[in-house]
Amino acid sequence: MFQFTTDEIDDLKNGQFLVEVEYISVDPAMRGWISDIENYSEPVPINGTMRSFGVGKIISSKHYDFKVNEYVVGWLGWQKFSVVDESKIKLKINPQKAPLSKNLGVLGLSGITAYAGFINICKPKKNDVVVVTTAAGSVGSAVGQLAKIYGCRTIGLTSSNKKAAICKSKFGYDEVINYKQTNDISSILKKIAPNGIDCFFDNVGGIQFDAVMENLNVKARIVICGTIGMPSFPIPNGPRFNRTLLIKRAKIEGLLVLDYFSEYQKIYNKLLKWYVEGKLVSEEDISDGLENAPASLIKILNGLNLGKQLVKI
Ligand SMILES: NC(=O)c1ccc[n+]([C@@H]2O[C@H](COP(=O)([O-])OP(=O)(O)OC[C@H]3O[C@@H](n4cnc5c(N)ncnc54)[C@H](OP(=O)(O)O)[C@@H]3O)[C@@H](O)[C@H]2O)c1
Repeated sequence: MFQFTTDEIDDLKNGQFLVEVEYISVDPAMRGWISDIENYSEPVPINGTMRSFGVGKIISSKHYDFKVNEYVVGWLGWQKFSVVDESKIKLKINPQKAPLSKNLGVLGLSGITAYAGFINICKPKKNDVVVVTTAAGSVGSAVGQLAKIYGCRTIGLTSSNKKAAICKSKFGYDEVINYKQTNDISSILKKIAPNGIDCFFDNVGGIQFDAVMENLNVKARIVICGTIGMPSFPIPNGPRFNRTLLIKRAKIEGLLVLDYFSEYQKIYNKLLKWYVEGKLVSEEDISDGLENAPASLIKILNGLNLGKQLVKI
């Protein structure tokens, strides 16, 4: 259960600065961060501030390199004011280059995740057939567009005709499957990708994953980025894909964006270039007011968001 509380702001210590937070990020992964089931990071402590990325302006500082009126992106938490030191900050940003909110989506964790997984694990080649789940979402839409930049043919899976239309018109997918309107995703994939799928960027697991695995090409590369479509506990059973991997000599790899944080600035610069050139666009779903953050998390877990879910403070 979330509680909305107010507190005094502590005096700054040397090396700290105070950020007035303007937008906070809402991410599917937060469901795991507030659970006590083993994960890749410590659970958010009871009575702790909800962990999240945010973007905001420095309004007071005791750090020589972080000055008042500069904008930063980093672990600011679900709060209006955040006292942080350098270790919590990923980036200083120039608000003239892109709207602040974009630094949490297509130019933020979503874009960095998309780039890290697609470039490093999928290793795309021109004309590869690429399948993306949550194709209209924040990470998925970035992967779809990166794949087009790299000359691939893209197939997206999403849950509604509205999202499917945006996938085609805005994110440039060549084909889109509304997975809620079929009980045979595999046969549809077989028809639209008869030679098989070369890269699979999966954000959901479950039946969408199983259907794509039935349609791999030889030497396919598969990124496991998210599992939003399956329960994390108890772990569900599914088809065994050992022979598929063997026969297709395919590679499958889990992705954790935190492993790529040392490359954050480098990847950001690439994404920003494509953004400025108009090659990387995005949708945003912005709620108003910190008190709406928990409802925004539930919204995303029900698939009702369209694009990067944010809260404007
Ligand atoms: N590994 C990492 O480091 C990393 C980093 C960031 C994000 N991720 C993962 O990437 C995925 C997408 O994250 P995002 O921030 O871009 O969110 P998003 O795609 O903008 O929003 C989540 C989407 O998930 C889909 N969804 C929700 N419930 C579902 C269900 N029960 N079954 C199938 N699909 C469901 C919905 O899309 P549809 O309507 O299209 O089904 C929903 O819009 C998540 O799995 C997230 O955990 C991983």
